[in-house]
Order: sequence, then C-alpha cells, then structure tokens
Amino acid sequence: DSQSEKLLKAAHAQATQFYHHLLMNTVEGERALHYLYERGFTEEQLIEHQIGWTLNQSDSLLHVLQDDYPLPLLAEGGLLTYYEDHDQYYDRFRERIMFPLRNERGEVVGFSGRVIEKKEGAPKYLNSPETPIFKKNQLLYNLDRAKSSIRKANEVVLFEGFMDTLAAERASIDETVAVMGTALSEQHIIQMRRLTNRLIICCDGDDAGWEASYRFAKFATEHKMEATIAILPQNMDPDDYIKTYGGKQFRERILEMSHSFMSFMIQYARRGKNLSLDYEVEQYIHEVLVELAERRSIIERDLIIQQLAELTTVHETTLREKLAQLTTHQA
Ligand code: UTP
Ligand code: MN
Ligand code: MN
Ligand code: MN
Ligand code: MN
Repeated sequence: DSQSEKLLKAAHAQATQFYHHLLMNTVEGERALHYLYERGFTEEQLIEHQIGWTLNQSDSLLHVLQDDYPLPLLAEGGLLTYYEDHDQYYDRFRERIMFPLRNERGEVVGFSGRVIEKKEGAPKYLNSPETPIFKKNQLLYNLDRAKSSIRKANEVVLFEGFMDTLAAERASIDETVAVMGTALSEQHIIQMRRLTNRLIICCDGDDAGWEASYRFAKFATEHKMEATIAILPQNMDPDDYIKTYGGKQFRERILEMSHSFMSFMIQYARRGKNLSLDYEVEQYIHEVLVELAERRSIIERDLIIQQLAELTTVHETTLREKLAQLTTHQA
C-alpha cells in the first residue's frame, strides 16, 4: 500500500461513517430509511453493511473531509468531482442511498449509490469510478464476508447485483458474491477459485440476465470452474424471487436445480425462436450442436442429442451426423 492508497482508504472509512450516520440518525435520511425497510432490510443489516445516505447538497462530504485530505486526492479517489469551469470540488454522490463497496480484506474502497425513485437521465446506480483502490473487474461484492461460508459449502453463488447478495443474506444464504454489473473477469475467477471451484451462476430472469449467464458460464468453464446455471422465472431477479417465495424455495427450486451448461444451452438457444418454422429449427439445432461439439463426454452428447431430438422432432441420427460434421470442422 502506498501512502496515498492508505489515505484514500481512510477517507472512504470516514465517508462511510458520515453517510451511515445521515441515514440512521437524521431527518434527512428518513425517506431513504423507510425505502430500505420497505424493501426488507433489517436495522442489523444496515448497521453491519454500514449502508448510508447522501444529502441533496454539493459540499457536505467536502466539509467533512477537506481539512484532513488533499482535495485532488479525494477527486482521484472518486469521492469528490473537480469542475474546471469553477475551479471547485464538489461531492460526487448526492441524494443517493450509499452502499459501501469492500475489498477482499473488508476495507471500503468505493461506493455504489442508488436513487430512491428512478429519475429521467440519472442512472439508477452511480458507482465510484476506477481509482487506485477500486477496480470494477477485481471487486466481488461480499467476498470478505462470504469467504468462510463459501469454503464450508464448497460452492459459491454469483449474482449480477449486490442487492441480490443482500437479499440472500437476509434469507441466511451466505455463500454468495456479486459482480458490479455484467462483466466477469479473470481476477474475479481467481479470487473465487481460491475458495472453491464450484460455481452457481444466478443472473436476473431477463434478456440481459440470460446473456450474462451464457457469457459467465463460458468464461468460468474455460477457466476451469465447474459452473452450473440457475434459471429464474421471467422478469424476476434473485431478490424478487426470495421476497416472493422465501429463501428455502430459492435454495431448493433455483440453486439446487441449477443446470449444466448444455442443459442451459438447450433453453438459452430456444429463446425467441419459433420452432414451427424450419429455418428457426435449423438455427436452433446449429446453436446447440456448436456448443455440444466442444464437449468431450460421450454420455453428455448422448443425453443432449436425445433431448434435442424430442424438442425438434428431428431424428437422432440426423443430429449425430450434424454433430460429427461440426466436430471434424473444429479439430
Ligand atoms: P440491476 O438493474 O439488476 O439492479 O443491476 P438490482 O440489483 O436489481 O437493483 P434494484 O433491485 O433495482 O435496486 C444489477 C447491477 O448492475 C449495476 C449495479 O452494480 C447493479 O448491482 N448497475 C445497474 C449499475 O452499475 N448502474 C445502473 O444504473 C444499473
Ligand atoms: Mn484467460
Ligand atoms: Mn438486471
Ligand atoms: Mn436485478
Ligand atoms: Mn433487483
């Protein structure tokens, strides 16, 4: 740790305390606190995660930090923004619910701020920019707290959003982490693989979630993790599902019924296709078999061919022939 990184972490710790105090103890924080309780947060969880609130003011954090830290450093760390036109520093985060982002060692290195109501032109979540201490592609939300549970379960559940991790935690499902959006990096994989090589990918039940599931599963498998994919009902994310059906059902019907890559592929490639059209059937078969051609297990090949034959009413022998073509072309 360089000196400036230490200073930045200290500034983040102080900002965390300040934001948390505004949420828990002030009139200005009441609306946000109400929103969080409505969403199912408990007071205990708000305290443990030091969740906070920022004012609709451009200089409140500035006043808290300006005597102790150089302003350019705070801007580099993403806590303040520098406006050249005014030659002035302002708070980066305003009027948002503040979620501290902790690194693997539990140090706060950034924030994600959520608006209470969706506003035109403003992103739902505003994150810290890339800084010397915060890199999106290195941070897995909750990893610091989930480590021992992941080891014990010998399994890690990966979500797209940290709200899902917090919902799972309320349902006593602790072996979970989240990426900050929809990119999974090699560094993420390395951090998880130190604890387990079994991964359950659990993305949102929407188009973006299906695409992310596919990419995450391909990438994780290429990097030697045993990945399965959990599939949620249309337009539900893990948080929604847990709220509606509870943690027990989430575990039993979603996590424990997660799919192998090829079984996921059969459903993924099927999406948006009309299988009463020959052309789309052909396209569907092609997409599934291209992936199957990369698989070594003859048992798996057999099982998938059978399923595909049933779904499309194309003969198994035809499918095998097509698979053989794809396999030789690749070799
Ligand atoms: P989602 O839109 O699925 O958010 O984005 P969510 O977790 O369901 O949150 P709620 O329930 O609406 O409050 C998933 C992740 O994508 C990133 C965030 O990291 C979020 O956790 N994201 C999303 C952004 O960075 N900015 C955005 O504007 C939206
Ligand atoms: Mn690689
Ligand atoms: Mn989403
Ligand atoms: Mn979501
Ligand atoms: Mn959600």
